[in-house]
Amino acid sequence: MTITHRIALIGFGTVGQGLAEILVDKGDSLEQQHGVRFQIVAVSDLLKGSLYQATGLDAAALLEVVRRTGKLEEYPVNRGLFTGLDSLETIRRSNADTVVEISWTDVQTGQPAIDHVKAAFENGKNAVLTNKGPVALAYQELAGLAAAQGVQFRFEGTVMSGTPAIRLAQRALAGCTISQIQGILNGTTNYILTQMETGQSYASALAEAQRLGYAEADPTADVEGWDAAGKAVILANVLMGGDLQVAAVDRTGISKLTLADVDAARAAGERWKLIAKVWHSDGTTKASVTPTRVPLSHPLAGVGGAVNAVTYTTDLLGDVTLVGPGAGRMETGYAVLGDLLEIARE
Ligand code: HSE
Repeated sequence: MTITHRIALIGFGTVGQGLAEILVDKGDSLEQQHGVRFQIVAVSDLLKGSLYQATGLDAAALLEVVRRTGKLEEYPVNRGLFTGLDSLETIRRSNADTVVEISWTDVQTGQPAIDHVKAAFENGKNAVLTNKGPVALAYQELAGLAAAQGVQFRFEGTVMSGTPAIRLAQRALAGCTISQIQGILNGTTNYILTQMETGQSYASALAEAQRLGYAEADPTADVEGWDAAGKAVILANVLMGGDLQVAAVDRTGISKLTLADVDAARAAGERWKLIAKVWHSDGTTKASVTPTRVPLSHPLAGVGGAVNAVTYTTDLLGDVTLVGPGAGRMETGYAVLGDLLEIARE
């Protein structure tokens, strides 16, 4: 038996289009293997416009029209198609089971994404996010609201894109206590540092990371360590019971590192990595993001390009390390798919 799970996409940029592509390519095999068909019923994007059709939109046609015209509202007109609903109206009025919040991330305010997630819960809908803002700033409040409404709140893509860093800790390591988390949590900066080792300038490597879709809309968030700090806070608060604010993270970015610094590290048999760390101290949870010179023998030294890694230090297993993509269109689209499958299973 196949169930249909209806989704509304709030945002149709890189991640939304990556997810739509996955659904076009794998819709049939997902149905065969997992008994579920994910149907996009609504898409609302601040720049591209908005569509809602209760019986489902054609994902391939959505991709085609956006690539050709840049606008959703050029989608073929047909009976039952609504256009022009804003994001909150889309969340309230659509018949979606799950709202996928993939609009831009604002790690300072978390808005408008926090309001989107609240509206989803208030209307009895699950929420899946790749948007870090709401989870970094309001995890406890949103998790409480979701529980009170009996809906699900999932955000695997907020840390390490589709690499299941959160699910690994919550599911596969269930029963272990995590005492420390350490890792490379930002793809853009790791890509820049890797490219600088080949002699490419900081500015040109950053431009490349933007072109490849790794960087945030405002790449200051990446290079000054805000993005990694937000992810460290998510891991601290979700996995280690912390109540940490992004502003409390001891944070330094990579924007001051020069090719000379990179060369000096190489000459000493070391390499620069932007290391995020979470630990307990004096009864509270602390976090830092710091450019660090690590020896080539260090477990994180070999993690290059936009790849990320996280090491969980646990009581029962010692260190468990997960390495995988940390950014990218299909990689983050897959994060949403993983969360949707978990919701559909439950
Ligand atoms: N800008 C982020 C990064 C995207 O470079 O890691 C994924 O969160």
